Amino acid sequence: MSLTFADLFAGIGGFRTALESVGGKCAFSSEWDKYAQTTYEANFGDLPHGDITEIHESSIPDIDILTAGFPCQPFSSMGKREGFEHPTQGTLFYDVVRILKAKRPKAFILENVEGLLTHDGGKTLNVILDTLSVSVNGQYLFFSDPDVRYHVFWRVLDAKDYGVPQTRKRIFIVGISEQTFKEVPDFSFPPPFKHKKSIGSYIEENITGYSISKHLQDSYLFKLNDGRPELIDKNSTIQVKTLVSTYHKIQRLTGTFVKGGETGIRLLSENECKAIMGYPKNFVIPVSRTQMYRQFGNSVAVPVVREVAKSLISCLKKHQVIPNKPNKEAELINA
Ligand SMILES: C[S@@+](CC[C@H](N)C(=O)[O-])C[C@H]1O[C@@H](n2cnc3c(N)ncnc32)[C@H](O)[C@@H]1O
Repeated sequence: MSLTFADLFAGIGGFRTALESVGGKCAFSSEWDKYAQTTYEANFGDLPHGDITEIHESSIPDIDILTAGFPCQPFSSMGKREGFEHPTQGTLFYDVVRILKAKRPKAFILENVEGLLTHDGGKTLNVILDTLSVSVNGQYLFFSDPDVRYHVFWRVLDAKDYGVPQTRKRIFIVGISEQTFKEVPDFSFPPPFKHKKSIGSYIEENITGYSISKHLQDSYLFKLNDGRPELIDKNSTIQVKTLVSTYHKIQRLTGTFVKGGETGIRLLSENECKAIMGYPKNFVIPVSRTQMYRQFGNSVAVPVVREVAKSLISCLKKHQVIPNKPNKEAELINA
């Protein structure tokens, strides 16, 4: 039996890549950006549905798990911190709620930027948790919407602790339906891996086409007190800084750059971006360079989602919500 999932705010399919790798089957996806749709379709063979606000719940099939990295812009420390007051984007959370109410999946995995924790003094996160939860991190709440009753667990996880050479802190909010579990289920977030991967071995040598011109280097990159670029090479033993969607806009200058290329300093290559985001080598990028950075910068790091999904699936199995018999999925999970 495969666990089915809906991939909302699908981007290029970070959640889908992770969930499929542990035996999940995607039953529905939504993503309105045409460039992200192009990448998604090239890799998964189906075109995501568009604007989620225009999709009626009845057109979404029944699913076991709902996943959503709902847009981080209103909550991001780089955005304007408008939260729920943002005319449309801030309210997309309520589209997630609308679909949870209608479909009542056994579980959900939501993801957002770390800035959600401090947004509006923590009120935004509280609204989210109050709306979704009968219990939060094991503690029962007194108020919750009677139609959306999930045991909710949340934690900030850093992708560098789960097998990628990149610091990428994101809040993960996992919910398990009260219809499935009357009592608080025995869920815990995955422990960090013992071994951290460093960037050096992923650096490509002798590649061209990613150079930063001498002019940009002089006028921006090394301008005194202007950002803190980090320079790496194949001997670097660090984890790179968070890849942001505006990485290619060199003026931002807070990212990680590579020694090499025609001018001595270059941007991370497509393969290096795949590696730091934990995408497989054969993942296809059929869009422009600018879109490629934007798409990876908006995405989730696949391995951390895979670990969260494994923890969730083993919780569902332990409580016999899904059969706990040896099958391909279990083999993958135990691998
Ligand atoms: C933070 S990104 C999620 C990226 C995704 N988790 C991934 O792995 O690539 C949020 C995505 O939501 C999409 N989005 C924003 N508003 C939307 C809407 N109203 N309907 C559908 N997709 C939307 C954006 O285009 C963006 O790709």
